[in-house]
Amino acid sequence: MEARLQELKNEALDKIQSAQTVKELTDVRVAYLGKKGPITDVLKGMGKLPAEERPKMGALANEVRAEVTESLDARMVILEEQAINEKLKSETIDISLPGRPAKSGNPHPLTRVVEEIEDLFLSMGYEIAEGPEVEKDYYNFEALNLPKGHPARDMQDSFYITEDILLRTHTSPVQARTMEAKGGEPIKIICPGKVYRRDNDDATHSHQFTQIEGLVVGEDIRMSDLKGTLSVFAKKMFGDDREIRLRPSFFPFTEPSVEMDISCFKCGGNGCNVCKKTGWIEILGAGMVHPNVLEMAGYDSKRLTGFAFGMGPERIAMLKYGIEDIRHFYTNDVRFLTQFQRTEL
Ligand code: PHE
Repeated sequence: MEARLQELKNEALDKIQSAQTVKELTDVRVAYLGKKGPITDVLKGMGKLPAEERPKMGALANEVRAEVTESLDARMVILEEQAINEKLKSETIDISLPGRPAKSGNPHPLTRVVEEIEDLFLSMGYEIAEGPEVEKDYYNFEALNLPKGHPARDMQDSFYITEDILLRTHTSPVQARTMEAKGGEPIKIICPGKVYRRDNDDATHSHQFTQIEGLVVGEDIRMSDLKGTLSVFAKKMFGDDREIRLRPSFFPFTEPSVEMDISCFKCGGNGCNVCKKTGWIEILGAGMVHPNVLEMAGYDSKRLTGFAFGMGPERIAMLKYGIEDIRHFYTNDVRFLTQFQRTEL
């Protein structure tokens, strides 16, 4: 009986060690320690033993039981841990997958051009002024030396709201408003903003577009100051080797009036498709503030003089970035807009 118990113990210990899963090990436990197991069987045979051998055999049987139980428990800890590890492994999330990049917006190309121009003029000591888009006929025309019935009003087909109120056709009314507000003091402003004209929209016309007005009033302000200022502007926006030229023109609110051209930034003046073979590109209108305009706003035109200019950021952006249709600025097509990502951060 003793030999049988030893044999059962060794068998059980072997099976415990070779069990690979919690289930296999549980089966081993049931098989060897269960009520119908071989150890119990052996113990049932104890009755047949002589009385003096029973305690010894009982102790041995308990020892075997204890050893097998201990080994089972130890192996169970290992197998359970293994099972948990495998489960965790199978449930791991692969966090190394690249994320979806967040789309970031970028400034509208017009905003960029306007900000670039603002930065330049701010650096030259100008202030930024604003005025209403729904404007009085008085500021849009009359105070700019364009009385009612003046033929030059026809150059700017207007959206009238009432007889005396319209959507401003240019940013020049801000000249008149600023002069009136400054009460005879010197002025140095630029004014960016939206303007409206009754145009049929096509590749080069839009019923709403943007302008930037400039106005300088002070003692001894001359045409040469205007020319120097415009030259700095042209070089900053279109490259250091730009030349400018001033051609005589007409605006009722400036006298003399000029159009400013820059030497073509594509061909350098030899003639190409950008400058239509002339070597020059028209950029803006400007001139010396008309004495009537100064006087109407309460300025003494004998003592103070000034210059003014007006430009279209759309035109500047179209030239700078090679944009062929003005409508691209307003249709909000992301395929267009995302081409103007800021590269510098
Ligand atoms: N307001 C003029 C226009 O819209 C431009 C301009 C502004 C001309 C200032 C001279 C001086 O055409």
